[in-house]
Amino acid sequence: MSAYNTPYEALGADGIRDLVNTFYDLMDSDPQFADLRAMHAPDLGPIKQKLIEYLTGWMGGPPLYAEKYGTVCMTEPHEHYWIGPKARDEWLTCMKMALDAVSDDEQLKKMMEVPLFRIADAVRNRDGERTVDPGVIASG
Ligand code: HEM
Repeated sequence: MSAYNTPYEALGADGIRDLVNTFYDLMDSDPQFADLRAMHAPDLGPIKQKLIEYLTGWMGGPPLYAEKYGTVCMTEPHEHYWIGPKARDEWLTCMKMALDAVSDDEQLKKMMEVPLFRIADAVRNRDGERTVDPGVIASG
């Protein structure tokens, strides 16, 4: 038995903020995430705030993102980006590294492993990687 029922109870609002800040700081600084970083806007401030709000509800806390934006569907905000298995796995690796940095609770990490994969794979909108000029893909 764990002392909590949801990741939100385990991490709390401060823990989620730490997690998201660490996640985007890693994305911004670790060269293995350069392609993933390049997909995002130069200023990571707004997306940090949005992911904090999203994960708060997704982890079982107050539904901050849904209250503000009226949905929790992640398909639409990602549809303009090419997200294949490589981007998905980079996102998940970055999130795993961020979790390792902010928490040593292995049970919590285990609890999140499958749900995180499922949501990242739901955001994936391509089966393979981009191999030709982006303009060609945009028009085709
Ligand atoms: C699977 C790989 C993923 C990639 C490559 C990716 C990439 C992106 C990009 C490029 C943006 C736009 C950011 C900007 O304009 O600066 C975005 C927005 C966002 N992403 Fe992801 N993302 C991924 C997975 C996820 C997952 C799994 C979640 C949630 C657990 C998530 C949550 C969000 C949120 C909340 C936004 C803001 C949406 C809005 O505009 O309201 N992303 N993502």
